[in-house]
Amino acid sequence: SSNKLLIKGGTVVNAHHQQIADVYVEDGIIVAVNPTIAVGDDVYVIDATGKFVMPGGIDPHTHLEMEFMNTVAVDDFFSGQAAALAGGTTMHIDFVIPTNGSLTAGFEAYEKKAKKSCMDYGFHMAITKWDETVSREMELMVKEKGINSFKFFMAYKGSLMISDELLLEGFKKCKSLGALAMVHAENGDAVYEGQKKMIELGITGPEGHALSRPAVLEGEATARAIRLADFVNTPLYVVHVMSIDAMEEVAKARKSGQRVIGEPVLSGLALDDSWLWHPDFDTAAKYVMSPPIRKQGHDKALQAALSTGVLQLVGTDHCVFNSTQKAFGIDDFRKIPNGVNGIEERMRVVWDIMVESGQISVTDYVRLTSTECARIFNIYPKKGAILPGSDADIIILNPNSSFDITAKSHHSRVDTNVYEGRKGKVSTFIVSLVQMVYCTARTSIKS
Ligand code: URP
Ligand code: ZN
Ligand code: ZN
Ligand code: ZN
Repeated sequence: SSNKLLIKGGTVVNAHHQQIADVYVEDGIIVAVNPTIAVGDDVYVIDATGKFVMPGGIDPHTHLEMEFMNTVAVDDFFSGQAAALAGGTTMHIDFVIPTNGSLTAGFEAYEKKAKKSCMDYGFHMAITKWDETVSREMELMVKEKGINSFKFFMAYKGSLMISDELLLEGFKKCKSLGALAMVHAENGDAVYEGQKKMIELGITGPEGHALSRPAVLEGEATARAIRLADFVNTPLYVVHVMSIDAMEEVAKARKSGQRVIGEPVLSGLALDDSWLWHPDFDTAAKYVMSPPIRKQGHDKALQAALSTGVLQLVGTDHCVFNSTQKAFGIDDFRKIPNGVNGIEERMRVVWDIMVESGQISVTDYVRLTSTECARIFNIYPKKGAILPGSDADIIILNPNSSFDITAKSHHSRVDTNVYEGRKGKVSTFIVSLVQMVYCTARTSIKS
C-alpha cells in the first residue's frame, strides 16, 4: 500500500504566502494544499491546529566528516543529519574538499562519506589549487556530477588559500560554466602576520584568534572578491559573513546592482566574541571558528541586514570538533581546529532571535531558512515550498512550546555546544520527508 498522509488545520507557510489549509501527501510528494481535504481511513492524519506547517530547513553550509587542521570533524553524514532532523532541517549542502588537489578523487571520497545519509543533501566543491587539470575537472563536476557552486579560500595560508591570480582564473571558469563562485573572505596573508604577532606578544590563548584576524581583514577580502567578481562579471556568494565590515561591502555592491549574495551563519547572528576571553581554555576554544565571531554589535547589525534583505539566507558552517581536538591548540591558538556547531540549533534560534523578537514575519522566516537557499541552488520548488509536486520535506513548528539547548541532550556527536543554556519557546517536528534520495544542488543564477 502507498504511503498517504494528511496534515490538517495548520497554518501553511510559504515564502510568498500563508493560509490555514490541509496538506495531502502521497509517497513523499505533496499532492494537494487546500482549505479542506477529505480523505479515506487509509490515510494517516496529523492535527496541526494552532501550529505552522512549513518547508523543512535547508542549511546551505555544513562540513560533515571534514578533514581539516590535522583532524576530522566528528559529525559524519549520519550524526550530522540526525542532528539536523532533530532541529527541523531536512536538507543541507556540504563542501567537497579535493583529495590532494584532485576534484574527482575528492568527489568520490564525499560520495562514500554520504552513503550514511538519512536525508537529502547537496554538494558545493572547494577549489584549493589551480592548474589545467583542476580547470578541466571543474567542467566535469558541473556537467556530470551536478555540482554548480565552487568555494575559493582567501584565507588558511599554506593549506586551502589561493592567490588573487588563481581566484580570477576560478571566477572566469565559473562564469564560463554558469556556476556560482563562493568565497571565504579574509586576507590570509595579513591573518598569517597577525597570528605571528600575537604569538610574539605571548598571546597564545583563544583570544589570540580574534585579535589576530580582525573584521577589517574580512571587510578587505570581501571588497576585493566583490570587485574581482565585478571585473569578471560573474555572480558571487559570500559565505559566513561575520562582520559589519563585510556586510557593508555586500550592501554596497547589491545597491549598485551587482549580483552578490551574503550568507550570515547562526554563530555570527546569535553570539559575540566575549567567550574567547573565558579563562577556561575548553570553554573559550569551542568558540574558535573563521572568520571569528565578532564583538557585540556585529550580531545585531547582521540580524538587521537579514531583516532588511541586505543578506539573503542563513547557514551554520556546522563543523564540529571535540574538546580533545580543540585541545591541540592549548599552547597555541593557531592549532585549535576551527569550527562550531549549529545544524541542530539553526531553526529554533533563528525563530527566537528574528521572529519572536519581531524583526521578521513567519513568511520571511521560511524564506531565510529554506526557500531562498532552494532558489539560489536551483532546487526550488522541489525543495523550499509547500506546493503540489514539491518533496514532502515538511516540518510542523509549534510556536508555543519550548527548547533548552545543552550538549547533554543534543543529537550531534560533539561533546560541547556553543548555545549551551540557551532557552526559547518554539519546537519543530519533522512529519515527512523524502529519504535517501540523492539530490545534488544546481545553481540558477546565470551570468
Ligand atoms: O571555522 C570554520 N569556518 N571552519 C570550517 C571551514 C570554513 O572555513 O568554512
Ligand atoms: Zn570558510
Ligand atoms: Zn565553512
Ligand atoms: Zn531530493
